[in-house]
Amino acid sequence: MQTVIIGAGGHGRVVLDIFRQAHQADPVGFIDANPDLLGTRVDGVEVIAPAAAIGSLAARGVDSAIVAIGDNSTRNMYAQTLRAHGLRLVNAIHPKSNVADTALLGQNVVIAAGAMVCAHCRIADSVILNTGCIVDHESTVGRAAHICPGARLAGRVTVDDFAFVGIGATIIQCLTIGRASVVGAGAVVLQDVEPFTTVVGVPARAIRESAPVAAAPAAVAV
Ligand SMILES: CC(C)(COP(=O)(O)OP(=O)(O)OC[C@H]1O[C@@H](n2cnc3c(N)ncnc32)[C@H](O)[C@@H]1OP(=O)(O)O)[C@@H](O)C(=O)NCCC(=O)NCCS
Repeated sequence: MQTVIIGAGGHGRVVLDIFRQAHQADPVGFIDANPDLLGTRVDGVEVIAPAAAIGSLAARGVDSAIVAIGDNSTRNMYAQTLRAHGLRLVNAIHPKSNVADTALLGQNVVIAAGAMVCAHCRIADSVILNTGCIVDHESTVGRAAHICPGARLAGRVTVDDFAFVGIGATIIQCLTIGRASVVGAGAVVLQDVEPFTTVVGVPARAIRESAPVAAAPAAVAV
């Protein structure tokens, strides 16, 4: 398998570490939107092409990729673009995470060290379940959502597409976190969060609504 990691930043380093911890082969290279990084190395792996060259990767023998970009919309856009160019999207699952046998995982999913995914959870494409988070039983995490380090979803929670659950946040059972919403660091959410809304605090309260522009991405033109 000839895999590339899209994104040579901090999350890219995390994904490379997961590959190594899981004893997967090193990727053949990083791809990054910043052309200045071309030819540099990230933890020993070279940045082999700019993002604009994604269309030529298959011709160079690359057959698979994972998108290691923290921004939810950007991660989703690259995933769509890679698929359109015939590349297979792979997952990075840390061997010290715990994923229930009955959990369903999409593609381009990152599950970091210490994350727990409990029985009958559904994790959609391009989701990040970050270090030490808990996704408890029968919860659903929608496309390109990000559950940050140490965040906790109780049972039967739904996190809709593109939502961001900040570090250390807690969501009690059976709630829905709406599409492209943001739950602030350390918030304790006791009621549903409307789409495109930012909530913070204990108990969580809304501080902002945003236009749904960023959550309706098209594929990256490359
Ligand atoms: C929620 C968040 C996105 C808001 O960021 P922002 O839009 O820039 O908001 P501001 O910093 O302008 O803060 C707006 C108000 O909310 C408060 N606030 C912001 N984040 C808060 C939080 N996590 N908990 C409690 N209050 C918070 C601010 O104190 C401010 O209050 P004020 O109006 O009374 O002064 C951000 O603070 C946050 O918590 N991000 C999560 C970061 C994270 O989890 N990173 C992990 C990456 S892996």
